[in-house]
Amino acid sequence: MATTSVNDFEILYSRDQIAQRVAELGAQVTRDLNGEKLVMVGVLKGAAPFLADLSRHIEADATFDFVATSSYGHGRQSSGAVKLIKDLDHPIEGKNVLIVEDILDTGLTLSYLRKLFLQQKPKSLRIATLLDKPSRRLEKIEADYIGFSIPNLFVIGYGMDYAEHYRNLPDIRLMPPDHPE
Ligand code: PRP
Repeated sequence: MATTSVNDFEILYSRDQIAQRVAELGAQVTRDLNGEKLVMVGVLKGAAPFLADLSRHIEADATFDFVATSSYGHGRQSSGAVKLIKDLDHPIEGKNVLIVEDILDTGLTLSYLRKLFLQQKPKSLRIATLLDKPSRRLEKIEADYIGFSIPNLFVIGYGMDYAEHYRNLPDIRLMPPDHPE
């Protein structure tokens, strides 16, 4: 019997489609910066490939910082509380900050981070997300830069995982519902 390979998982966005869209977003960020400096803050771990690629399309003096969060409890419909696992390394007061996410889902993570970062009084605070699932939103929050808006699909690849696997896939694929862990 043939075994299922990840190459059989349906591609939602190919590496070429992602590369083109990321380049467009980078150009948009560059325009909005108007020659000013930028601090890119990646939300670990899923945002790592997007941040790396996006940064190479931003023509500005950009630095990187990273935070890590986790939700209390199990699953997406958990308590709704977000916990900070790793804080920023450097203060962001007076800086132009771009939070970089792989996916905006319920909005709990980004609402939490936005509130936290605004307390430091950055000069500007914007959000870039590669994927947006607006139908899942529990908190009122929108990204300033959106790669693709999608329905409620389970996606893997380009940073996104299933039980920590598949983050390194270059394409974004659909996780089959019946796939064993
Ligand atoms: C994912 C994603 C966002 C968050 C979005 O991270 O990277 O940080 O969920 O969900 P929300 O809008 O419902 O808060 P996850 O907790 O899966 O961690 P990971 O990036 O390490 O995969």
